[in-house]
Amino acid sequence: MMVTGNPEESGKERVSVAIREQLLEMLEGGEEVSGERMAERLGVSRNAVWKAMALLRRDGYEIEAVTNRGYRLVSVPEKLAEAEIRRALTTREIGREMEIHDRLDSTNNRAKALAAAGAPHGFLVAADSQSGGRGRMGRSFFSPGRCGVYMSVILRPDCAPERAPLLTSLAAVAAARAIESLADTEVKIKWVNDLYIGGRKTCGILSEAGLGMEAGKLDWVVVGIGINTARTEFPDELKQIATSIGNETGAAPERNRLIAEVCNRLEEMYGQLETGEFLAESRRRSNVIGREVLVMESGKQYPAEALDIDDQGRLVIRTEEGVSTLGFGEVSLRWTEARK
Ligand code: BTN
Repeated sequence: MMVTGNPEESGKERVSVAIREQLLEMLEGGEEVSGERMAERLGVSRNAVWKAMALLRRDGYEIEAVTNRGYRLVSVPEKLAEAEIRRALTTREIGREMEIHDRLDSTNNRAKALAAAGAPHGFLVAADSQSGGRGRMGRSFFSPGRCGVYMSVILRPDCAPERAPLLTSLAAVAAARAIESLADTEVKIKWVNDLYIGGRKTCGILSEAGLGMEAGKLDWVVVGIGINTARTEFPDELKQIATSIGNETGAAPERNRLIAEVCNRLEEMYGQLETGEFLAESRRRSNVIGREVLVMESGKQYPAEALDIDDQGRLVIRTEEGVSTLGFGEVSLRWTEARK
């Protein structure tokens, strides 16, 4: 059985997630609510209410204790908080079990270790910051504290290993929908794993898979998603290529809410992995189809025209040698003209 919630809450100190969520619901209107009334309504001790309040404060909720009158919710956290994610979660599986960290080297590393140890389908790992955020092809992913969403979801797809890479494309569409649900903007997809707003990268996706004991069977796939949310001053080497939702729209979405929305959209679309239905949206959102690109593939690079995305999610290109397809492996693209 996997551990659910923050490790500090284990053992005797454990205050159920349900109590915290119900307390928040009671406090939501901004009115003062007495500890006694809360305890009575929830059928728990005053001590359990007090402990839940302490945990909520630790998670960044500002809760005022007014003498003889009770508690009042002053503000919800900037920090990632399990209870806040749960409040916006509408899924049955994805994100239902989670670990939230202040800091990790990489949420993908942690999720891979959990997956190998048997964590269930849908398990979510998220962190406020990463010291070693990773991108495709050995690149790093800039992950400053509380400036973005850094999350990984463990999936156990029941599909042929050849279809697993399609999860990256599916996750890209899910993340694009999630961003658009919270920010007034249009998100484009640069095949295969980057999301763009206003011509610059706002989100990257790194999927990693583990094979099972049975030959040719997938055991798990970890889909890691990094979204730049806050208004951010990027380092010089990223200034021209990276942006954030806040930089583009003037307002950063609430990160807990965005994590929940990504999970919601992932679950809503997950069944399409078999049918490939989401690929129509990948094509619609593509900012490479119909354009000249530079393909970088295992040490060589060559110009091509991006023609389409086929039903296997591969990019169809035309080069001077004719029409061919690019798989998901070690391939990346550069534009040879101004970005849209
Ligand atoms: C890329 O740009 O090539 C992919 C970037 C993926 C970044 C995310 S952030 C959460 C997860 N943890 C990681 O170390 N990487 C992914």
